[in-house]
Amino acid sequence: MAKPLLAGNWKMHGTAKTAAKLAADLANSSGDYPELIVFPPYVCIPAVVNELLAVRNIAIGAQNISHHSEGAYTGEISGKMLSDIGCSHVLVGHSERRTNCSESNELVAEKFAAAKRSGLVPILCVGETLEQRQQGRELQVIKSQLGAVIDLVGLETVCDAIVAYEPVWAVGTGETASPEQAQQVHSFIRAELGSGGTDTQILYGGSINADNAAALFAQPDLDGGLVGGASLEAEHFINIAQQIVEQK
Ligand code: PGA
Repeated sequence: MAKPLLAGNWKMHGTAKTAAKLAADLANSSGDYPELIVFPPYVCIPAVVNELLAVRNIAIGAQNISHHSEGAYTGEISGKMLSDIGCSHVLVGHSERRTNCSESNELVAEKFAAAKRSGLVPILCVGETLEQRQQGRELQVIKSQLGAVIDLVGLETVCDAIVAYEPVWAVGTGETASPEQAQQVHSFIRAELGSGGTDTQILYGGSINADNAAALFAQPDLDGGLVGGASLEAEHFINIAQQIVEQK
């Protein structure tokens, strides 16, 4: 069984000061919650690391990574730099980057490999667009997104990472996949990973909030969530985290 997990993607919100405040609020939340990971904007990471130094079950990740290890790549951030400042995880292939920054399946696979080279745990985001779902192609799209990474790094390495199913039409739209739609894709991903994928954490992401969390996490192959909007308030994030614990 995969261990429950909740990740918060803070995207391009806030400042170092508000990020530190949010991290402190999370650190001070009491109650029963699963492993948590937060993904602040790059420049806010040191402030968050500083707040969470003593908090063992909240890890810190970055929202993006260069596929290069080092060199003349203006504006890029390497995996080594991320490990150096205290990150343990990194998002790769988030739909906003696939769409806005034209990241291909192959580039996402290179970024996944770069994360592994630096000792970071990648969260590989996959998901179909509305048009692809309307054409009934969602599983085919996810198979090729996963396949590009498996081809480059091997199945075992992908099983050791974290996968997030984030239907593009549900990310930041207020529209969520139904628990049945999400479960269907999650069990497909689990099957694609084979026997090595039994313990792989497969997260759902796309407009999760305190009202829809329980029904989603009641599904057997949803091991946790990747939350955007609802991760910007500690109270909402912790409420979702507690609902994961209740369902698992
Ligand atoms: P959302 O974002 O929860 O605001 O839909 C999810 C994500 O982008 O990971």
